[in-house]
Amino acid sequence: MPLIQNFGKNIWIVDGPKVKDMGFMFPTRMTIIRLSNDKLWISSPIPIKTQTLKKIKSLGKLSYLVVGTPRHLWRLESWNKKFPELKLWGPPQINGNFITKSVLVGKADLPFEGVLSNNTPDIWSKDIEQIIIEGNPFIKEVAFLHKKSKTLILDDLIQRYPIEKNKKIRNAFLKFEDMLEPNGGVPKDIRLTFTNKEITRKSIDKILKWNFNKLIIAHGKCIDKDAKSFVRNAFNWLKD
Ligand SMILES: [Fe+2]
Repeated sequence: MPLIQNFGKNIWIVDGPKVKDMGFMFPTRMTIIRLSNDKLWISSPIPIKTQTLKKIKSLGKLSYLVVGTPRHLWRLESWNKKFPELKLWGPPQINGNFITKSVLVGKADLPFEGVLSNNTPDIWSKDIEQIIIEGNPFIKEVAFLHKKSKTLILDDLIQRYPIEKNKKIRNAFLKFEDMLEPNGGVPKDIRLTFTNKEITRKSIDKILKWNFNKLIIAHGKCIDKDAKSFVRNAFNWLKD
């Protein structure tokens, strides 16, 4: 598999190292968008090799490092050390309360240029729209739409993984969590952290009005067609 995969016009994904969570290893991914002004907007940056970095630099000018969930703030640290000149944008909870220490440890002192809100910054609004998925006091994840490629970008809220041979416990766990193909969706433990489903429903309704047919997620298999019906189904539990 190539290090950098093109996912549509002016958008690429890069798969990173696996990380351990709840006793299982999960894959990671970052998204790169080339804005109309040739600046690169990078979401949920992951550790990468020099060769990959060289290729990314050939796509445009490294400019913005964006993290849409407090659970991925740790990913900014090494990039910020290496490229202090890049502008950092974090989720609404860069200074908020978090579920566990592992979600956010001392990352709020990163020099953020801005905090993501429901108002898309002018610097990328020509190419990207954004919205906070509300109704969760612990994790306010920001969803992004890349208009040109009609791609929705989510971090943790939707996850889907293939069945792996000889890994019964892992497969059973993922199935229980609703993260296993052919389904996949919002992991059950994350669903439990949504306390105001009515407000969440409104956020999801707004997202479903966006013009997208592809989905990039930070963990698991992306969707390159008919993604809207998948996303609609993935949030059906909000009706419960
Ligand atoms: Fe994540």
